[in-house]
This record gives sequence, C-alpha cells and structure tokens, in this order.
Amino acid sequence: MKITVVGAGGNVGSTVALTIAQRDFAKEVVAVDLEIKKDDKSFFPSKGRALDQWQTAPILNFDTRVTGTVSYEDTANSDICVITAGLPRRPGMSRDDLLSANMGIVKSVTENLVKYSKDTIIVVVSNPLDLMTYVAWKASGLPASKVVGMAGILDTARYRAFLAEELNLSPKDIQALILGGHGDSMVPLPRYTTVSGIPVSHFIGEEKLNAIIERTKSGGGELVGLMGTSAWYAPGAAAAQMVEAIALDQNRVFPCAAYLDGEFGLKDLYVGVPVLLGKGGVKQIIEIDLDEQEKALLHESADHVRKGLEDLKRLS
Ligand code: LAC
Repeated sequence: MKITVVGAGGNVGSTVALTIAQRDFAKEVVAVDLEIKKDDKSFFPSKGRALDQWQTAPILNFDTRVTGTVSYEDTANSDICVITAGLPRRPGMSRDDLLSANMGIVKSVTENLVKYSKDTIIVVVSNPLDLMTYVAWKASGLPASKVVGMAGILDTARYRAFLAEELNLSPKDIQALILGGHGDSMVPLPRYTTVSGIPVSHFIGEEKLNAIIERTKSGGGELVGLMGTSAWYAPGAAAAQMVEAIALDQNRVFPCAAYLDGEFGLKDLYVGVPVLLGKGGVKQIIEIDLDEQEKALLHESADHVRKGLEDLKRLS
C-alpha cells in the first residue's frame, strides 16, 4: 500500500503523513511539497519533515517508510493520494475566500497525481473543501466514488469533543452526525447524536446543546483566531482515518464530502453526507431519513455550496 500526501511540507499534510505512518498499515508514505526559495537558499520542507518523521519510527514502532520529495514521479502507482495543498485561512478570512487561490493549486496537483497514478483514490482536504473536492474530481477524470472530501469527521470530532467536555463523558462514547458543507452552514443533527446509543437529549438541555452546535459551526474559525492560521491536528487525524478505512477496507460509516447524483434531492455537487467508506473509496451514500427542518437546513447548506460552484465556474 503506497500513500501520497501532497502539501506535506505544511502542518495538515505532515500530520496526515505522520498519523498514517504511526498506524503502521501502509508500506510507504510519500510526502510531496514545493521547494521554497528564501534569501538565495533552497528549502525542502516535505523532505525535511519526512526525514524527521521517519526518524520517529524506531521510537514509535512503525515500519511505514516515509519519504519526502518535490517530484510527482516519486508518487507513481499510489493507491491513495491525499491533497492538503493550498493556502490556509488567516484571521478574518472565510474558507470561501480561499477559492480563487486554491482552485488552481488543487487542479494542477490532481493532474500531476493522476498522471502517475491513473487508478488512485483521492482524499481532498484543501479548502473551501466541498468546492475543492469537486475541482479534484473534475480534474482527475476518476469516477466520483474515488474522489472524496474530508470535513464531516473533523466537524463531528469537534462537536463530540465539546459534548464530552460539557458532559464529562468519554469522547469515545459520543456518536454524532453532521451534514452539509464544511462552513458555517454545516448541519449538526441532534436527533442523530447519542451517548452509547442513548439520545443526547437524555444528558443535555436544548439551550446548552444549541450553544455547542454554534461553537461547532465556527470551530475552525475559533482555532484560526487562536493560532493565526488554520488547524492541523484534528484535520490531519481525520484525513488519516479516511485513508485507513479505504486502505483496510474497513466499511466505516463517516460523514464525508461525496458527489451527489439525486441523493437527498441534490444533484451535481459535493457536500457532506454519511457514506460507507472502504476498498475503492465511497461504496455507498447512506440516505438517512431527515425531518422537514433537517432537510431544509441541508438544502440551505447545499445552496451555499452551489453558489460557490457558480463562482468557481466563473473564475475558471
Ligand atoms: C478547519 C479547517 C481545516 O475547519 O477547515 O479547521
């Protein structure tokens, strides 16, 4: 199993690479990023970070060989590729503000990847997530089931972590689902939130739950405010979890940005929905029952993604 991570000189990409290596299910992780020129000197962050990570292998006990490169040739015949390349958010920016900068980057990265790995599976992490997943799908020429975006696992993890903190319960026991675009219009679903199968409403009142939902929606922004750039530990771990599910054919059920062709009454866009993830990528979109309010919120969120798609088409 060979896995490529593009953008691995950066924080999210290098977290994806290291998390995958530590899980020790892949033979090889290839970390790709650009050469950086500064003060007449050349730097190779993907090579440096990969070397540093490989040197943790004897301490952390893994075999996965991590190598860094600036050349796509080294990614040839990758089973799975993760795209984290692109600019991160800075304070005051929305994910959508990254559209024009990142669409060109994601398109050219994808073209380079499929040139050397014709039948790969692509996990997209770059923002604005739902739109960049669409860009990668178009540029790849791959079936939509083989191109999938990471957002729902991250958003759900934030929601679960906030709930665990509030309820003083293990985050492991909190199961939840968030649908929609990876933005302020995301749709956390209290009806599909449980603590070991017990509806969350048994543990928390509506007002407190709503406050947690609002914090979750702006969870990425909270971190940008604290750090001056966007988050990487949870986004990186979430993408690595998707890679593991695909690599090991685990048949996990996760919220991911998937291509919809009529499911949930939505067509020709990528947006967050529950999927079955395993060998070959998205095996199935799980069309759960939504009540009128949930449906309306999902469609509102999808409308926001669709507006972005129109901007994207105008810009390209
Ligand atoms: C976040 C970025 C990665 O939500 O979108 O932190």
